[in-house]
Amino acid sequence: MRIAVAYDRAADQGGTADTAGVLPAVHGVLDALARAGHAAFPIAACTPLERFMGRLTNVDLVFNLVETLDGRAEDEPRVAALLELTGRRVTGARSDTLALCRRKDRVNALLQAAGIPVPAWTIARKWMAEVPEWDDFPAIVKPAGEDGSRGISEQSVVDDAVELRAAIARCEGDALVQRFVPGRELNVGIVGSVLLPVAEIEFSGAQRLVTYAAKWEPGSDADLGTTPVCPARIPPAMAEEAHDLAERAWHAVGGSGYARVDLRADDLGRLHVLEVNPNPDLSPGAGLARMAATAGWTYDGLVARIVREAGR
Ligand SMILES: Nc1ncnc2c1ncn2[C@@H]1O[C@H](COP(=O)(O)OP(=O)(O)O)[C@@H](O)[C@H]1O
Ligand SMILES: [Mg+2]
Repeated sequence: MRIAVAYDRAADQGGTADTAGVLPAVHGVLDALARAGHAAFPIAACTPLERFMGRLTNVDLVFNLVETLDGRAEDEPRVAALLELTGRRVTGARSDTLALCRRKDRVNALLQAAGIPVPAWTIARKWMAEVPEWDDFPAIVKPAGEDGSRGISEQSVVDDAVELRAAIARCEGDALVQRFVPGRELNVGIVGSVLLPVAEIEFSGAQRLVTYAAKWEPGSDADLGTTPVCPARIPPAMAEEAHDLAERAWHAVGGSGYARVDLRADDLGRLHVLEVNPNPDLSPGAGLARMAATAGWTYDGLVARIVREAGR
């Protein structure tokens, strides 16, 4: 097949938190597709869109690694929508799932309505300029429309109303206020209808959350204090529950293609869904590839399955 690997122009230009993982993923996917005998080539998504779309003529499949358009993360679902509307076969999640999962408040409302446990939460809207009533501490304050732990540091965990107000003020846009669940942190990878072995982020030292530094500053204390382990060293019943919740959450958001669902246990060991990530980082060194390897898949096998799932 002729396969265009679409990615962010912003990643070529130094990148942002949204695109930091993109280039290793682009190289990994291109190499895997070439080894499988496909004619694969990279195409940077950028404006004017006519030029981008013009380069996609005569391709059989678009491998969609686009996270931003000209650096704007809110345009990620719109690029996918454009590809869908123009009849391209595309890997990964559909545009409506991508749009939904960009907003932590909407996803939490939907999961809650579907009976899937999420930590208690509320939303602080920038335009209302007032702090919502909240007395459940410790809590965590997260930017409602960000990803990749952007805006998340140790200071995001607050112990009283004064700290809460300050953390909300630090968020650029709307802020999600959520009960801090202190237990184990698990990830479930999904490819098509396959649930991959559960992974765990093991915390050491003072580290208790996966902050921005933990994700994007290799060698930092935060990075060294957060070790991914797959398979997770958890009782089988907990792994089963993680799989069940991840699968239900993925269905609730209308997911297709591949995903990583993040979960965390409360002090009684009950799991809650933190996040549903459609089209998660596909770098050979990232979580999904690690989980696939534990399942006995090669990286090439993972990429081949994602191709097979595309546009079904
Ligand atoms: N309610 C919570 N309780 C405890 N830790 C949390 C909670 N929400 C987020 N975290 C921590 O912050 C990290 C990033 O939060 P997440 O909701 O996954 O946002 P992002 O989209 O930025 O990855 C999580 O991996 C976890 O370590
Ligand atoms: Mg996350």
